[in-house]
Amino acid sequence: METRYLLGEKQIPTHWYNIIPDMPGPLAPVIHPRTLRPVTPQDMLPLFPPALLEQEMSSERWIRIPDEVREVYRLWRPTPLHRARRLEEALRTPAHIYYKYEGVSPAGSHKPNTAVPQAFYNKAAGTVRIATETGAGQWGSSMAMACTMFGLKCTVYMVRVSYAQKPYRKSMMQLWGAEVIASPSDRTGSGRSILAKDARTPGSLGIAISEAVEDAATHDDTKYALGSVLNHVLLHQTVIGQEAKEQMKLAGEYPDVVIGCHGGGSNFAGLAFPFLADKAAGKDVRVVAVEPSSCPSLTKGVYAFDFGDTAQVAPIAKMYTLGHDFVPPGIHAGGLRYHGAAPLVSQLVHAKLVEARAAPQLACFEAAVQFARTEGIIPAPESSHAIRGAIDEALRAKEEGRERVVLFNLSGHGHVDMAAYDEYFAGKLEDFEYPSERVQESLRHLPHVAL
Ligand SMILES: Cc1ncc(COP(=O)(O)O)c(C=O)c1O
Repeated sequence: METRYLLGEKQIPTHWYNIIPDMPGPLAPVIHPRTLRPVTPQDMLPLFPPALLEQEMSSERWIRIPDEVREVYRLWRPTPLHRARRLEEALRTPAHIYYKYEGVSPAGSHKPNTAVPQAFYNKAAGTVRIATETGAGQWGSSMAMACTMFGLKCTVYMVRVSYAQKPYRKSMMQLWGAEVIASPSDRTGSGRSILAKDARTPGSLGIAISEAVEDAATHDDTKYALGSVLNHVLLHQTVIGQEAKEQMKLAGEYPDVVIGCHGGGSNFAGLAFPFLADKAAGKDVRVVAVEPSSCPSLTKGVYAFDFGDTAQVAPIAKMYTLGHDFVPPGIHAGGLRYHGAAPLVSQLVHAKLVEARAAPQLACFEAAVQFARTEGIIPAPESSHAIRGAIDEALRAKEEGRERVVLFNLSGHGHVDMAAYDEYFAGKLEDFEYPSERVQESLRHLPHVAL
């Protein structure tokens, strides 16, 4: 009985899968934050290199992965697919649970899958420095690592609550040569104006994005990199699902349900999109995104045009949103504290091709501990949402007395999140109520986009 399904280096995918030609209808345009008219590639050139802008809008189903990128992927890809036999036993479920483990990357999560090509295309276009944001620090450390591999400088605006909670993520970024700044900061106009309104704000991804975008837009040698949400980021992550499909074949099974945690949508899309291609071709597979109940953009947000960031400097996209100035409670799954969602995932949820669920913090930690005590791996708090979703599916299968094949993405390890586990065991973690009033207030500030 096999437990791990492994591929060789030659089986690293040669192309990324672009879901755009298989979407259920045309994409909504991306809107300029000042003119409120659709953006042109020209508008975006100060922020991104041309190759990434091309990918953002491409209608090619398969996009070739450059050799230089595959060369770096070889440091940790293909990642293993595990059958969670010990967890299945503990749950006494007839379900078969599989997980794709992305925590084997040098930075400890799926994020380098896109950090590496973003650094590569920037270097090729002559960029000197990358400015970016990070929530939990997973993205910032991945970008720092990728920049050092391609000889780029890197500035990371790190959400203040995570900067305090996760000092070792900061150390990792510094080790890989990046400059790390707690956000909001006095380095940017947007940071200064947010601090003037609330000097004690925990910060948010929306605020940190504003600072990084402003930094890039005001320096000629600097471009911006985003760790999630955008089409090209989700595209790069599809190496996960492509490998998983091959590995499920080795296991002789096909998933009934595919699950990922959802912050901005990238690890979820990375695993799920290649399976959604099968669904579009008639295959019966359910696809589920699990988000935190304290920041439930997919399950409680509205599907509308909104700014991608708090200070309204980033483009406006049609997505599920809780409002761009909503500051989510300081849960430990820092990478899931984003007011919006990827436009591609949002459209798929709206079209009912993807299901969305919300899970509270304590239930996710409980699932993470059960997972660590059976499978051994200590999960990132973000990934614990996918584990919660998978365990719930397996328990439902048990209630119904049915076999079910469950596949989830274990997007990262939690070795740098031990302070969160300490707090959980000390009984100091709480479930935040869904901040309905603050969301309602924030939704009053959506931009009016007339197309
Ligand atoms: C381990 C891990 N999983 C998931 C996420 C959420 O991001 P996304 O929804 O883009 O995968 C993050 C974000 O920082 C993360 O670090």
